[in-house]
Amino acid sequence: MIYVLNGPNLGRLGTREPEIYGSTSYADVVALCEKTAAKLGVEVEVKQTDAEFEMIGWLHRAADEGAHVALNPAAWTHYNIAIRDACAMLRGKLIEVHISNVHQREEFRHKSVISAVADGVIMGLGIDGYRLALEHLAQVGDRA
Ligand code: DQA
Repeated sequence: MIYVLNGPNLGRLGTREPEIYGSTSYADVVALCEKTAAKLGVEVEVKQTDAEFEMIGWLHRAADEGAHVALNPAAWTHYNIAIRDACAMLRGKLIEVHISNVHQREEFRHKSVISAVADGVIMGLGIDGYRLALEHLAQVGDRA
């Protein structure tokens, strides 16, 4: 199983600041991930939450399973040490995904507390970043 986990406000994609995040909805992100996974012959679970404790629970489960994770931590990226600590427990690969290029945006978005514990980071490519993350994680396979 590969987990695609999304943090706060990403459930509102499509209507949320479309000039930054595009007009594709969160449902489109789920559909893209599921279509990509089917093509690659891997199982994917795509989830979104606005609640920190829920995200931490999902990361613990992924850690226990040794599963790979593509994570868009959204605003948590920039300050949430509890999410980072949960990411540090993962035994599978972790790809940090951002729809926008955070380095073209406000200074407070330039810092990620997650990147140091991620294997790779994909940003600025819109929702295609999720497809690219899945392509990578699928070809890594079970080798963590
Ligand atoms: C984001 C970038 C973050 O700075 C922001 O808080 C988000 C989305 C992105 O996908 O571009 O919610 O992670």
